[in-house]
Amino acid sequence: MDTTLAPKGETKITDMNSKLSLLEEKQAEALLGGGQKRIDSQHKKGKLTARERLHFLLDEGSFEEIGMFVTHRSTEFGLDREKYLGDGVVTGYGTVNGRLIYVFSQDFTVFGGSLSETHAEKICRIMDLAMQNGAPLIGLNDSGGARIQEGVVSLGGYADIFYKNTMASGVIPQLSAIMGPCAGGAVYSPAITDFIMMVENTSYMFVTGPNVVKTVTHEEVTSEELGGASAHSMKSGVTHFSCANEIECINNIKALLSYMPQNCEDDAPSVPYESNGNEKRTALNTIIPDNANQPYDIREVIEGVIDDGTFLEVHKNYAENIVVGFARLAGKSIGIVANQPAFLAGVLDNNCSTKAARFVRFCDCFNIPLLVFEDVPGFLPGTDQEWHGSINNGAKLLYAFCEATVPRITVITRKAYGGAYDVMNSKHIGADMNYAWPSAEIAVMGAKGAAEIIFKTEIAAASDPVAKLAEKEKEYIEHFANPYRAAERGYVDEVIKPEDTREKLIRAFKMLENKAAKLPKKKHGNIPL
Ligand code: HXC
Repeated sequence: MDTTLAPKGETKITDMNSKLSLLEEKQAEALLGGGQKRIDSQHKKGKLTARERLHFLLDEGSFEEIGMFVTHRSTEFGLDREKYLGDGVVTGYGTVNGRLIYVFSQDFTVFGGSLSETHAEKICRIMDLAMQNGAPLIGLNDSGGARIQEGVVSLGGYADIFYKNTMASGVIPQLSAIMGPCAGGAVYSPAITDFIMMVENTSYMFVTGPNVVKTVTHEEVTSEELGGASAHSMKSGVTHFSCANEIECINNIKALLSYMPQNCEDDAPSVPYESNGNEKRTALNTIIPDNANQPYDIREVIEGVIDDGTFLEVHKNYAENIVVGFARLAGKSIGIVANQPAFLAGVLDNNCSTKAARFVRFCDCFNIPLLVFEDVPGFLPGTDQEWHGSINNGAKLLYAFCEATVPRITVITRKAYGGAYDVMNSKHIGADMNYAWPSAEIAVMGAKGAAEIIFKTEIAAASDPVAKLAEKEKEYIEHFANPYRAAERGYVDEVIKPEDTREKLIRAFKMLENKAAKLPKKKHGNIPL
């Protein structure tokens, strides 16, 4: 058609139609990423595509994409003839349960999701927007690492991301899901973020892969054994959640977000709460066994105190002698740290100290009040612990509590022995309130050990040393294995019945709602890393 002869308005429509078609063609091309064949191959591996993941993560219709038509600028190794719209990462913003988030989702169908200069620029742009507008950043990682054809330019792109991750740390929550490969230096971006989740059997993270491991150390190990979800959720503690599949992983991200504020100047959202008029939880009265050496599951205490079904445990399968996670109390978000007597008697060791320290610091960054349940016999002794830095690691937890300015409450359910008493959010290091159950034992050490030391001569001189030790042990228990000596000093604010714990905590956290505490002016502290 000769458009010059057509009426003016019609010419315009015709031009616009062809322009719209071009736009739609380009959009359709971008939506296909690396093409249908590679999408099929992704599905065959049991993985969703980058866009499918976004579909499940975000509220329907909320996603706004940024940089859909970005392509790489490389010309070497024939790359000028191979370009894909979006360049291997889908970036943008949207909402999760109505709350704004920024997100990038790496597209493995385009050069294996590998990171080019432009791919990195897209991620950085999203990070900048997230920081400027104070909303969480979610990274869905599925990448073969640095775009090999681009060389150092790609490494520069990674470093730009690491730098921005670090600048964003403590300003906005950053969550990383690993949904495919994540190797080499690429692992450091997720490692700097606040929480990592991995998908079982389809994701892995390692600094050097099985081939390098074999060359250097002659160890034969599979990718899954070396850096799969189970290795990192149980052995290294690198990942906080191990998820059976991608949908569970995405649901965990949404659940986690629900406990967090948008940024460090915001409060976490609370859900409406109406008291049922009977906050007594009588079941709590019967959890502590009569025999102080018998274990019990601290999760029963946690579940008994918080709003029903709201506990989201973090790092569930790692350093199980301490339990950490988020919950709601009277509708408000709290962070819980609890010794676990059912695992290694709840003793503090290297791994559980660092696990808890990092959790405490996250809560403090984002104004989430801390609740501590304490039943700790002390620090785990031994060469293994000492040579792996139990001094530094214990100090991390001590430091994390000391510098936390959020409302902090401790409930001593049973043992609070030795240095562990100080470390576990004692009043001396800034806890706002400290409650103890009548079953609490607050002392320098267990009665037997104490009696053996302080009555050594008397026991040795006795005609029946065993009976003498038992007698002295009993004497020590009567003197110290109770909460009243600490209460006399005000180290314990109140000895409470277990059944009243929930009500006491609801009131105390409400009382502390407007707590204003500041650290001394400094550039930053120097936590014993
Ligand atoms: C460019 C890459 C790529 C990469 C994969 N591809 N990794 N392209 N740069 N890093 C491409 C492949 O050529 C292939 O293209 C497609 O992605 C899928 O890859 P496959 O090998 O077919 O898939 P699969 O068998 O699932 O294996 C995935 C993989 C493997 C394990 C990730 O591709 C791999 O080992 N890639 C190299 C990983 C690596 O060494 N990266 C650099 C790490 S060092 P086609 O066209 O066939 O679809 C690093 C440093 C970061 O990242 C430092 C930061 C400081």
